[in-house]
Amino acid sequence: MKQIVFATNNPHKLDEIRAIVKGRLEVLSLADINLSGDIPETADTLAGNALQKARWVKEKTGLDCFADDTGLMVDALDGQPGVFSARYAGEHCSPADNVAKMLDEMKNETNRRARFVTVIALIEGNKETTFEGRVDGEILCQPDGDGGFGYDPIFKPEESTYSFAAMSSDEKNAISHRGRATRKFVEYILQKH
Ligand code: IMP
Repeated sequence: MKQIVFATNNPHKLDEIRAIVKGRLEVLSLADINLSGDIPETADTLAGNALQKARWVKEKTGLDCFADDTGLMVDALDGQPGVFSARYAGEHCSPADNVAKMLDEMKNETNRRARFVTVIALIEGNKETTFEGRVDGEILCQPDGDGGFGYDPIFKPEESTYSFAAMSSDEKNAISHRGRATRKFVEYILQKH
């Protein structure tokens, strides 16, 4: 089976992607290849950040790899926090801080439309390719469910009556931004091997 390194330090993302590609692609973590350190993420677009993370691994190891970057775009906040979703409540904030800030900013808002967008950047040899996945939905008025991670408890995709955090991982992966981007990426990579 083809092996590829996933440039992330987020164990939730690793679990999600491994579940999606199971039996078709072997995804190695940074721990599997003994690489540690802070992956840079300073670009101002999702694609720029995904490429920056993947290039960091490629430059250090020479191995084929991929990285993802995700943003939550909220219509009533003019598309924010977008590429800044991880640091929405400030540098070094927790996911719970981000959720609390979002609920507060949106407390009097009737337009609750939002979307998650993921860009995956793949580097094979010296070829760079990107894949995008998105899911439309809404920001809930209060958290729902205790699974998932990040903004999952307050995001309800339009295909569902409950949040990502209230879903099984299979349910989330079937419709999520990351699931959609990952399936495009896997189709592309397996076509060639
Ligand atoms: P990044 O892709 O790691 O930069 O993620 C940006 C922000 O979005 C972080 O705060 C993540 O916790 C959050 N995030 C990324 N993917 C998801 C998801 O699938 N569900 C909920 N939040 C997510």
